[in-house]
Amino acid sequence: MTKKRISIFASGGGSNALKFFEYFENDQDIEIVSVFTNNKSAGVIEKAERFSIPHNVYNRNYWETGEVIIDHLKDQKVDYIVLAGFMLLIPSELIRAFSNRIFNIHPALLPKFGGKGMYGMNVHRAVKEAKESESGITIHFVNEHYDEGEIISQVSCPIALSDSPEEIAQKVLRVEHENYPKVIAEVVRKSI
Ligand code: GRF
Repeated sequence: MTKKRISIFASGGGSNALKFFEYFENDQDIEIVSVFTNNKSAGVIEKAERFSIPHNVYNRNYWETGEVIIDHLKDQKVDYIVLAGFMLLIPSELIRAFSNRIFNIHPALLPKFGGKGMYGMNVHRAVKEAKESESGITIHFVNEHYDEGEIISQVSCPIALSDSPEEIAQKVLRVEHENYPKVIAEVVRKSI
């Protein structure tokens, strides 16, 4: 049986991407075949190199229509795309080409704290301001609207009123690392 092939899209440090590289390193059914980034100095590149996973840098212009990127993904026979801290909007052509095969993680419990402008520390600051007693992660399919694709899994974590946005971010990131690869593995395995 041929393995299911996942490509990771990331723009930053890539700590989630690293968890995927580790999790699927010796998997029998699923492999991480490539990394796509818009940022030639993204930390994820060095992490991919460590695992001998090829990376592809496409600057912002290429993400406007996604045409060249779609062809590249097809050449690589990619089955699924995992967004792990990818900062540009995914073009609708790409979403259509990989319908129900693109996953994202949002660092809060959607539908709260989602939508345009809600990324990175903005999310954790909003959670803090709302005096929430918990935050967490939402893993969802990507559709053409920010953070509105069908939810696959949510995991919460308690937060204290005294937690700073940075402390909330750390707690949530830990939950991301523990759950993101595992949840994607379950979804992809179901399709085999
Ligand atoms: C994570 O918090 C993720 O939820 C968000 O961006 C961050 C990426 O961090 N979309 P990293 O690059 O995986 O370390």
